[in-house]
Amino acid sequence: MKHKHLISFSNWSADEINEILELSTQLKQKRKNGEIIEPLKQKTLFMLFYEQSTRTRNSLEAAMTQLGGHAHDLTVEKMQISHGETAKDTAKVLSRMGEAIAVRNCFFNQGNKYLNQLKEHSDIPVISMQDDIYHPLQAIADMMTINEVFYSQVTHLKVSICWTYATTHLKPLSVPHSQLLMFPKFGIDLSIAHPPEFPLMPEVIEKSEAIAQDNQTQLNFVDNLEAALDQADIIIPKNWGGFLGVENFKGREEQIRAIKSKQNDYQNWILDEKLYKLAKPNAKIMHALPADRNHEVTDRLLDSENSVIYQEAENRLHTAKAILTYLMT
Ligand code: CP
Repeated sequence: MKHKHLISFSNWSADEINEILELSTQLKQKRKNGEIIEPLKQKTLFMLFYEQSTRTRNSLEAAMTQLGGHAHDLTVEKMQISHGETAKDTAKVLSRMGEAIAVRNCFFNQGNKYLNQLKEHSDIPVISMQDDIYHPLQAIADMMTINEVFYSQVTHLKVSICWTYATTHLKPLSVPHSQLLMFPKFGIDLSIAHPPEFPLMPEVIEKSEAIAQDNQTQLNFVDNLEAALDQADIIIPKNWGGFLGVENFKGREEQIRAIKSKQNDYQNWILDEKLYKLAKPNAKIMHALPADRNHEVTDRLLDSENSVIYQEAENRLHTAKAILTYLMT
């Protein structure tokens, strides 16, 4: 039976994910050939953003246009959600007007709960455009990119997921979480480095460990970048904030200040040319973007021939088209 919603890929099998990846590759080729296919003609996707987005918003909106449908670009302020309308009423109403609801809500302890409330009451697919725990649309594009770069020879590749310093906004945990749940399904080994104050969520690690065990892959956590980078095939230098919720502080501003202040202790956690040499020669650099250039990773590396960040971003479009086709037809 087809999955109806996409909140996370954790309960999708590798075969099901492969179906999406194969469709993504076909759709990428068709676009290159200038072929127009419109399986979503007259269909509507509601995109509800609680936060900013470049890749997710534009890949999904372009995907709907290219597939013959239309996307509504919504924010909380445009909706009666800002006046307290419930998830149930929002889901019930939108279910009568269109074919899928996509939501980005990364507020800690809220986003994933809100998506699940919508899912409970929606008659049409609910898709996560990133919440506080998961970012499935990023993970599937990352998997497509790895397959392309390594010609689908991915078993026991070593991917190094490195927490690195950032000065910009508080970045969610959902990208590394979703990579932890995706890559081991394909036999990829992971080495994850982070400062002790910025762990990933125990329940996600537990799920990832089970997937790694089923697929006989390695899942190693280390407390320094050098150990994670050793002989890596792929490096993902990426900041994430802590998972202490706003309820532990006097409001969101105080929460952000506290996390940022702790992060300042780790300003030397940056992927630079010296550290890069510890990985395999020509190791690939990935980043979900937006990147905090020269804090998370140096400009030189991000712009080097071994960086695949724009291919990764482009694949957001092709994988989005595959997911929408799968869920909305
Ligand atoms: N990687 C990603 O989701 O980018 P946006 O925040 O721009 O959508």
